[in-house]
Amino acid sequence: MPATLIDGKAFAQTVRDRVAKDVAGLKSSHGITPGLAVVIVGEDPASQVYVKNKVRQTAEVGMNSFHFEFEATVDQAALIAKVQELNEDPAVNGILVQLPLPKHMDEASVIEAIDPAKDVDGFHVVNSGLLATGGGGMVPCTPLGCLMMLEDQHGDMSGMKAIIVGRSNIVGKPMAQLLLDANCTVTIAHSRTRNLAEEVAAADIVVAAVGRPEMIKGDWIKAGATVIDVGINRIPAPERGNGKTRLVGDVEFAGAAERAGAITPVPGGVGPMTIACLLKNTVTATLAQNKIELQQD
Ligand code: GUN
Repeated sequence: MPATLIDGKAFAQTVRDRVAKDVAGLKSSHGITPGLAVVIVGEDPASQVYVKNKVRQTAEVGMNSFHFEFEATVDQAALIAKVQELNEDPAVNGILVQLPLPKHMDEASVIEAIDPAKDVDGFHVVNSGLLATGGGGMVPCTPLGCLMMLEDQHGDMSGMKAIIVGRSNIVGKPMAQLLLDANCTVTIAHSRTRNLAEEVAAADIVVAAVGRPEMIKGDWIKAGATVIDVGINRIPAPERGNGKTRLVGDVEFAGAAERAGAITPVPGGVGPMTIACLLKNTVTATLAQNKIELQQD
C-alpha cells in the first residue's frame, strides 16, 4: 500500500489538546469557561452515540457541557423555545441541535432559530452566506476537519484540482467553498454527474461525501492524489460471521490506497476530526462573543 495513511484520530487529539490549552487560558486570564449545549430529539441510535461522544469530549477539554433530550413527539414550537432560551443564556457559547430531526419538524426553521453567533455547526444561513462571500462566520465542522487534514498534507493547495463527490449543505457545498478559498480548481460531482470516473481521475484531491458505500472505485484515483473519505456506511460482513457488519467509506479503500499518495481510513479518518472541530468552533465562538484574541504559542 503506497499511500500514506492520514491518522484522523491522532490529528483530532492534537486539535483537542490545543482547544484544552485555549480553554485553560480563557479561564485563567478572563475567568470564562466556554459552554456547549447539545440538543437531541428522539432515540435514533447513531445520533445517541454521536451526542454521547460530543458531551464527553466537551467535558474532557474543560468546557461546560449542557445536554437536553426531547421525546421524538415533541412539537417544533417547544424545541424552538428551548433554542431561544439557550440563545439568551450567557453560560452557553455554542448550540448544536443534533440532526436528523423527526419528520414532523422542519429542520431549516429549527436551525434558523439558533443565534448565528452560537451556531457552532455553521449550518445557519448567515454562516453559510458568510462562507460563500469571504468568510468570518462559523465553518461546518466536517469540512473544516477535512481542510485541516488537507492543509497538513499539502500546505499551499493553489492551482490543485479538487473534486468533491456530494453536494450536501453540511459537507459538499461548504467543502467546495473552503477549497475555492484555498485557490483550488473545484468540481462538485453528484449522483447525476456524467463520467464520474473520468472526473475523479483528473483530481489531485478527492473528497468523497456521497453517502454510498465504496461508490468511488480504487482504479479511478489519480496516482499520488490525496483522498479524504467522509463516508461512514455500515455494510453486511458475512465473512466475520452470521449477521456481522463492518464500516466502510464512500471510497473502495484497498484499491484507492494502491494509487493514492495519501488517504484517510474509515473508521479513524475524518470522523474523529468532526467532534474536535466542534470543540474548536466553540472556543472560536466564545472568543468572538467576548471580543477576545488569544495569543497562540
Ligand atoms: N448529524 C450528523 N452529523 C451532524 C453534525 O455534524 N451536526 C449536527 N447538528 N447533526 C449531525
